[in-house]
Amino acid sequence: MMQKFSMILLVIFSIIVSCTQEKQKAKSAQEQNMENYKKEKGDHVLHSEELKVLSPEEKQQYINEAKEIARTAFKIFSSHLNKYFTKHDPVKAIEYCNKNAISITDSLSQAHGVKIKRTSFRIRNPENKPTEQEEKVMEIYKERIHKNLKPEPYMHYDEDGYPHVYLPIMVQEKCLMCHGDPNKDIPQEINQKLAELYPNDKAIFFKKGDLRGIWSIRFPKKMK
Ligand code: HEC
Repeated sequence: MMQKFSMILLVIFSIIVSCTQEKQKAKSAQEQNMENYKKEKGDHVLHSEELKVLSPEEKQQYINEAKEIARTAFKIFSSHLNKYFTKHDPVKAIEYCNKNAISITDSLSQAHGVKIKRTSFRIRNPENKPTEQEEKVMEIYKERIHKNLKPEPYMHYDEDGYPHVYLPIMVQEKCLMCHGDPNKDIPQEINQKLAELYPNDKAIFFKKGDLRGIWSIRFPKKMK
């Protein structure tokens, strides 16, 4: 009787031991995975949870979809801005942005079933304020640029469990007349209009090739 009891105890004990070992193995594989990923991608990862599930191909699919959406949004902005510039009325272009930038991203969001946002570490419109995670991604992008590395699109599961893609937005020559040096690049009439519409404007003094900000695109939990 006693012998049987100690056999059972032994079995239970060895099951517990082997389970813990498995768990430890799994954990260290995940940690390893995390380290490799950070090395490769330049450390955007906040939680090991973010490494679950997706294959590189699936990630790429989200990134491609996000790029397409950002391209469409950029095209819409540009075509309207160009319309005002060809009429030599840049102030109208700003008024247009002021009235419509948020609603354009909102309606695109609805059309694609995603949530689209443009944000920056130096914002013009306070409604575009970055989240902590968005700030973190921009910090990494800045570091990468500082090291002469390209800021890469980044995809993860955000803390609410949504697939989320971030894309860099770089400053081009044509952005400077509204985001450059107010004493040199930005015409007086634009300075005036900006001061009137955005009294807390931080989105100036950018130079060509700088990081301007990011697109932050959140997908529904299941992609259609
Ligand atoms: C005609 C002036 C004008 C030009 C040219 C312009 N912008 Fe802007 N930009 C604005 C205005 C106005 C806003 C604020 C829009 C709003 O109210 O949401 C803005 C907002 C932004 C934002 C959102 C973050 C924030 O600061 O609120 C980003 C990112 C941005 N611009 C990038 C660019 C880039 C990149 C270019 C060049 C390809 C560019 N802009 C060219 C006027 C301009």
